[in-house]
Amino acid sequence: MHLIKLKRLQRGFFIVFEGLDGSGKTTQAFLLKEFLVKKGYDAILLREPTEGPWGGEIKELLSNGRKEISPQEELNLFIEDRKDNINKNVLPAMRDNKVIIQDRYYFSTIAYQGALGVEPQQIRAMNEAFALKPDLVFYLEIRPELGLKRIEAGRKGKRDAFEKEHYLSKVKEIFDSCNDPFIKKINGSRSLDSIQKNINEITIEKLSLLTANI
Ligand SMILES: Nc1ncnc2c1ncn2[C@@H]1O[C@H](COP(=O)(O)OP(=O)(O)OP(=O)(O)O)[C@@H](O)[C@H]1O
Ligand SMILES: [Mg+2]
Repeated sequence: MHLIKLKRLQRGFFIVFEGLDGSGKTTQAFLLKEFLVKKGYDAILLREPTEGPWGGEIKELLSNGRKEISPQEELNLFIEDRKDNINKNVLPAMRDNKVIIQDRYYFSTIAYQGALGVEPQQIRAMNEAFALKPDLVFYLEIRPELGLKRIEAGRKGKRDAFEKEHYLSKVKEIFDSCNDPFIKKINGSRSLDSIQKNINEITIEKLSLLTANI
């Protein structure tokens, strides 16, 4: 029988996936979690927007096409949802020395709400006033049209309007301008496998510095 050696971290470790729609965040976050659990790490998967009350409002808003709300009000919903997520999910897991893998965080808010016209630096400051900084961010970089193509293929639906591609290119510009030292830019237009290997390697290198076998 193959026994997994459990690994214990000296502290919690917070990993975030960011990138445009269809860049592969959900796919890679899931794969990384599976990989780490197999290696014996205590890893959990989180996502924003959450399943909580604010997250529900956000999802409804986005599916209704943002008609009745200003960018500033939209931003406030994301902030409330994030506060909730940090208090209920992120901080408790950090205290338990887990590896947290989260699908989207405040860099998405900077980029997406920034592209709607709110000043990106203002969004960053509002977030960094309460949101802990991640240890590692994988920014899956792709061109907007590739993400839209992947989503279209997955859903077998019609492609979103040209308008969406235009909006996403503004979002990408803001993502590209984020240059915090913990952000690793990953070429997201490669094969699933090579992206996964790249991500696994970087993660293990960081975690091994904090790890003891038990
Ligand atoms: N490297 C890749 N090569 C080809 N297809 C991919 C790759 N990564 C993901 N996909 C496919 O593209 C689609 C979108 O991937 P995924 O849902 O992981 O993206 P996402 O970044 O989570 O998107 P969203 O922001 O819309 O949630 C899925 O059908 C997925 O199987
Ligand atoms: Mg996703």
